[in-house]
Amino acid sequence: MNVLLLGSGGREHALAWKLAQSPTLRKGTDTLYAAPGNPGIAAHATIVPLDATDHAAVVAFAKDKAVGLVVIGPEAPLVDGLADSLRAAGVPVFGPGKAAAQLEGSKGFTKDLCTRANIPTAGYARVATLDAARIALDLFGAPVVVKADGLAAGKGVTVAMTRAEADAAIADLFAETGAEAVIEEFLEGEEVSLFVLTDGNALMPFGSAQDHKRVGDGDVGPNTGGMGAYSPARVLTPALEAQAIREIVAPTVAAMAMEGMPFSGVLYAGLMLTAQGPKLIEYNARFGDPECQVLMLRFAGDLLETLLAVAEGRLADLGGAAFYDDPALSVVMAARGYPGTPAAGGAIGGIDAAEATGAIVFQAGTRAGENGIVASGGRVLAVTATGATVAQAQAAAYRAVDALDFTDGFCRRDIGWREVARERGDGQA
Ligand code: AMP
Ligand code: GLY
Repeated sequence: MNVLLLGSGGREHALAWKLAQSPTLRKGTDTLYAAPGNPGIAAHATIVPLDATDHAAVVAFAKDKAVGLVVIGPEAPLVDGLADSLRAAGVPVFGPGKAAAQLEGSKGFTKDLCTRANIPTAGYARVATLDAARIALDLFGAPVVVKADGLAAGKGVTVAMTRAEADAAIADLFAETGAEAVIEEFLEGEEVSLFVLTDGNALMPFGSAQDHKRVGDGDVGPNTGGMGAYSPARVLTPALEAQAIREIVAPTVAAMAMEGMPFSGVLYAGLMLTAQGPKLIEYNARFGDPECQVLMLRFAGDLLETLLAVAEGRLADLGGAAFYDDPALSVVMAARGYPGTPAAGGAIGGIDAAEATGAIVFQAGTRAGENGIVASGGRVLAVTATGATVAQAQAAAYRAVDALDFTDGFCRRDIGWREVARERGDGQA
């Protein structure tokens, strides 16, 4: 069966790498297409010039090439309803339609759903004016969290430790006309990501990870799309994972189905492990980046068969997802300047040397330059490795990082620090 993968990041490189290994993708017979792709994805897929915002073109391509599954990597085409256009044309697709993708696209939608379905989450107020936001801040006090409503690539959130910071955040946000915001209670605890595949009905827990959202070592500096991740996140114990699925994910999937917006795809729950148990911070309607990279190194099953079962509503027929025991860890190399304006065009050498250490260098913001691969985005590479422990996976990933020659790039040197400290048993985490 031919497959079309949409996206161009490290997440999609990892998906392409794993899809290319699926026995369901028959060698020499089936083609994995990717658009727009990147040079890393091109090693596993046939790159085609398709624009995901042109639904008619994507549908026509899928029909023309007898594509049996479209895998939508990023959130923008999901929120834009591309999955609906494909389904309407009879093309199986991995990823939710527009209505279900509101779980990611609208923070207000998700908060209201949590209220209706009694899902544990931070207390909140939705506000549409600066005056209303001020009143909400009076009620919530500080620390408090201010979020723009809508897609913001993880950057529309201010965790304000003081009222002055919160005031600045709302002033900034409501400087734009038509802005809407969610003001939230500040949750205290450790953050983890839980992934669950669902076809709108059955659930398949698909692993956990811990991201590192701040740009600097020690979790300081501005928020980013994610500077590194490891999996599994053992702080989410089997008992806590079961609780999160019972109290958060299952009621969400049920409520979405009941309300006529069944969610089909991967539900990525950002959780805070509070003293009162797991609480939902946010949902994403797609795999995380770089969480997908670590999950793909650990997933032991047939990815194409699994994603197809989701798309075709057959997930209940599959057993649970099998993962290798060894943890995986991914270090993001970003271009200098990220998450502000990243330096573009920096040369990247040493990928072969890095991979010779046993790691995999997933490409994100890269393009083919005249003399090899160059940087073309904020997050450029996701250097990913496994090990018997998170500490060993971390050491392996940094060995590979050190074999790279990317002078315009930088990375955090402490990815996985919480779990490494726990493994050492020194209680710092
Ligand atoms: P979001 O885009 O909703 O994931 O928010 C970005 C980051 O802000 C999260 O990963 C958390 O680190 C932090 N954050 C969001 N909401 C809260 C909250 N209610 N309490 C504490 N931290 C939060
Ligand atoms: N790494 C965070 C995200 O993909 O949203």
